[in-house]
Amino acid sequence: MKKNIAVLPGDGVGREVVKGATAVLEAVGQRFGHEFEFEYANIGGAAIDESNNPLPNETLELCKQSDAVFLGAVGGPKWDSLPSHMRPERGLLAIRKELGLFANLRPVIGFHSLLHSSPLKPEIAENVNLMIVRELTGGLYFGKPSERRGESGETVVDTLQYTRQEIERIIEKAFELAIIRNKKLTSVDKANVLESSRMWREIVNEKAALYPQVEVEHMYVDAAAMKLISRPKDFDVVVTENLFGDILSDEASMITGSLGMLPSASLTGDGFGLYEPVHGSAPDIAGFNKANPMAMILSAALMLKYSFNLREEAESIEQAVQEVLNAGYRTPDLQPNGNMVVGTEEMIEIVAQHV
Ligand code: NAI
Ligand code: MG
Repeated sequence: MKKNIAVLPGDGVGREVVKGATAVLEAVGQRFGHEFEFEYANIGGAAIDESNNPLPNETLELCKQSDAVFLGAVGGPKWDSLPSHMRPERGLLAIRKELGLFANLRPVIGFHSLLHSSPLKPEIAENVNLMIVRELTGGLYFGKPSERRGESGETVVDTLQYTRQEIERIIEKAFELAIIRNKKLTSVDKANVLESSRMWREIVNEKAALYPQVEVEHMYVDAAAMKLISRPKDFDVVVTENLFGDILSDEASMITGSLGMLPSASLTGDGFGLYEPVHGSAPDIAGFNKANPMAMILSAALMLKYSFNLREEAESIEQAVQEVLNAGYRTPDLQPNGNMVVGTEEMIEIVAQHV
């Protein structure tokens, strides 16, 4: 099989970890006889520096002509003082919207050998395997108006807006995943306060009638934040609004030991996907060869699974990650006391060798 992949390294550690995805794919290609061709383009701060635009047209066009997209991360203090429509993060929101990537899948899987990297008690973090399904192109991050008001700009407004169709498609996606997983779906909202959440809940109940095999529960987001770290094993598929999903997934990363362990897949309705780690550009460690590349590497496995239906190949990456962790290799974020501390580049090389 031959595939063209657009690679958008972005900023900060994004540029360091993205090599993890391309290196393991090359190893997969060699082992299984596939050809992956990578073409690079700028997004975020790197694109602002080059062309004053966080999402240049060439970048978007390259993505549209590719079979899938890898993205590192965007942002950093260098661009923090820019007005919000010009910031690197705007490039990220724009690419999600322009490509129609409404379904963001964030698997949270605890690796046994990392049980002691998690701040949670081992008996709580053990055997966790859940999937956060975050709506990615609507909600509070996209609603209009979003602005400062009044002469002095001392009133601010953001808007949480959804159409019925936008909610229906993400809920359907979540049910489809629940069916092939453990047939349990938790819908997270704030229906005791927000009108948007009340419609969200209505739609979940309507769809639930079409999937009688799936056990459905509704949970307020504040309670979900608590239960996610006190009883994470109670969750299987979790579906939620854009902002809620953003926050809950960083929280959930602590079950696995580090934000540097969480991959993600952002999908359209017809199988096109962008794959990126859940974390950001980590300016505090960027440039020091310290970032954990596993989130990006595991995102490559998600690409093989969701975009190309190459199951065995995807498992070869997941298994390589597991073997390398079992062998005791750790980047500094994984509380490596007693284990072998390695840098980003070494970790990438070791995982690729294991594939
Ligand atoms: P962050 O996710 O970049 O970092 C949060 C903390 O986790 C930091 O202490 C960082 O060192 C650590 N961390 C993150 N990834 C890691 C990795 N792979 N290995 C080891 N440690 C890791 O979030 P932060 O610091 O709030 O934001 C930094 C910049 O990134 C901001 O400009 C923000 O807007 C942007 N951002 C971009 C995202 C994206 O491109 N998808 C997502 C989140 C934030
Ligand atoms: Mg986030």
